[in-house]
Amino acid sequence: MLFSLSLLGLIRFAMALAPPLTAQYQFQTAISDDMKVPVVLGVMSRCPDAILCESVFNRVLQRVGEKIEISLSFIAKPNASEPLYGVTCMHGQEECAGNVQELCAAKYHPTSEWWSFVQCQNFQGRDSIGTPETALNCAKAAGIDWENGKAVQCAGKDGRGTEGIQLLQQSARDSVAAGIQTSCTIIINGRQVCIRDGTWYDCEGGHTPTDFIRQINEEYDRLNSAD
Ligand SMILES: *[C@@H]1O[C@H](CO)[C@@H](O)[C@H](O)[C@H]1NC(C)=O
Repeated sequence: MLFSLSLLGLIRFAMALAPPLTAQYQFQTAISDDMKVPVVLGVMSRCPDAILCESVFNRVLQRVGEKIEISLSFIAKPNASEPLYGVTCMHGQEECAGNVQELCAAKYHPTSEWWSFVQCQNFQGRDSIGTPETALNCAKAAGIDWENGKAVQCAGKDGRGTEGIQLLQQSARDSVAAGIQTSCTIIINGRQVCIRDGTWYDCEGGHTPTDFIRQINEEYDRLNSAD
């Protein structure tokens, strides 16, 4: 929903995250036109539950990254009295900035890069997410050009770029449309499978990386079965 994986991105992604396999196998994985399982995480960039969810899905991506198309859907309240963002972010304006940076990185970079950017932001501690310094350092670490690249043109160095703000407003609307109210909400192939909000709940299929990997494999097999 928030980005589509380019073929090049997919190849890079497979090379970066797939377990060490032969080059031939990676190539076959990359060119096959199999259906990826859409995975959406409903998040807020400075929310501890989102940071936890994203660390769980870091493990998931390492195992089944080539089978999924992951995206972040941000939760923020539409608010005409917010002069800058037009939405209220629960953890303050810096969270809005962090959301904008992550959305812009995801729009203009393959999963391997924007996901590394998000993980790096999280690793700095949540009070650093959304600051210009963290964005610059994490862009560098993720191989994203934060001087002249499209992502920084979108986000602005301060997370106040016009395009990025529009992406955040759209993402907030998409979250409402998808029924996402809580950070973190996990949606696999259009179905809400788990919520983390202080504790894990509504997780019928479990909440460990292994549980999500199993559910993704099941959905992948269903999507790609012959009949
Ligand atoms: C809307 O934004 C204004 C200005 O920042 C703020 O004072 C108010 O609390 C916000 N309303 C909601 C419902 O978040």
